[in-house]
Amino acid sequence: MAKGNPEVTLNILYRGPVERGHNWQDLFAHHLPQVKWHTWPNVKDKAEIDMLVCWIPPREYQQDYPNLKVIFSVGAGVDQLNIPSVPQHVQVVRMLDPGIQQGMTEFVQMSVLNIHRDTLAYVNMNQQSQWQQLPGVSTAKRRVGIMGLGNLGQAAAVGLQNLGFQVHGWSRNPKSVANMSCFHGNAQLQTFLQRSDILVCLLPLTDETRSILNQQTLSYLPQGASIINVGRGEHIVEQDLIDALNEQHLRYAILDVFAKEPLDTQHPFWQHPQIWVTPHVAAITQNDSAGQALLANVQRYLNNEAMAGLVNLSAGY
Ligand code: NAP
Ligand code: GLV
Repeated sequence: MAKGNPEVTLNILYRGPVERGHNWQDLFAHHLPQVKWHTWPNVKDKAEIDMLVCWIPPREYQQDYPNLKVIFSVGAGVDQLNIPSVPQHVQVVRMLDPGIQQGMTEFVQMSVLNIHRDTLAYVNMNQQSQWQQLPGVSTAKRRVGIMGLGNLGQAAAVGLQNLGFQVHGWSRNPKSVANMSCFHGNAQLQTFLQRSDILVCLLPLTDETRSILNQQTLSYLPQGASIINVGRGEHIVEQDLIDALNEQHLRYAILDVFAKEPLDTQHPFWQHPQIWVTPHVAAITQNDSAGQALLANVQRYLNNEAMAGLVNLSAGY
């Protein structure tokens, strides 16, 4: 913490979009004037910095900022921080922004409805002036499985239940969530997948979840099932997904996240008639609500209270 100016008790280094930085700097100046806000790369004395607010940290921050105590991710995910490389004494906090939660719920509702109502097939038919009515089922008969029952997965589940879908979920630890069947752990993964007509991936990317959607696990999904990936691209083995779609084992895939972003213009996902690509927009951090969440957490830190969204470094999320 700052030694020079007795009125400054904490130094935050921000690295990210300029407009968001100005917005948050003003917020802190107004509500927590004892916090000094620095904008990367303009730091005179790196030893002063207590907290880093960023998506990607500066290179070699572990050596360059010797008194760093906390890293705040500006997003819900923390895989981009390369958790194993974070020093053990540094706390990592993910962004619990109500704006992200709302955006994700909307995106999952929109995607599930588009699959449920065959939007992609009708768009393809439009392009060929083809008039064909496809059979449908009621939402009550459509079973949606959510992988990851955390902050975003549980909110999406409620949003889907409000539309009348049958929702069930899967997590690492046993869970009890009102009005839904909950499965957990590798032993229950197959049963969970076997009853998912539409699968939503809302997992964090960790060593345990990388490539979790592969030839074998995709084969457990019912014939004609569809996938929505809003977790991370590396959850899916890309060629295994393409094969499952080409073999008509799977019907549609709505993909928002990719192993390499932006998705290469030549990537086969773009032209595949059963795939709908969106450019990582399911849930964008909202400056206003996320700024409030950050402010509340820094206030908790100053009060010696536990911060919301603290990451378990050994679990990786
Ligand atoms: P969270 O609150 O940490 O929830 C993660 C959930 O995943 C928890 O239910 C956890 O189980 C489960 N999980 C973790 N590892 C697992 C494993 N090995 N097996 C089974 N379940 C496992 O995270 P969140 O805030 O909901 O965010 C989830 C992810 O969404 C983020 O990490 C990010 O990758 C992605 N995201 C994407 C966008 C976008 O725009 N596309 C935006 C925001 C976030 P437990 O409950 O048992 O711990
Ligand atoms: C976006 O992908 C996030 O993690 O917030």
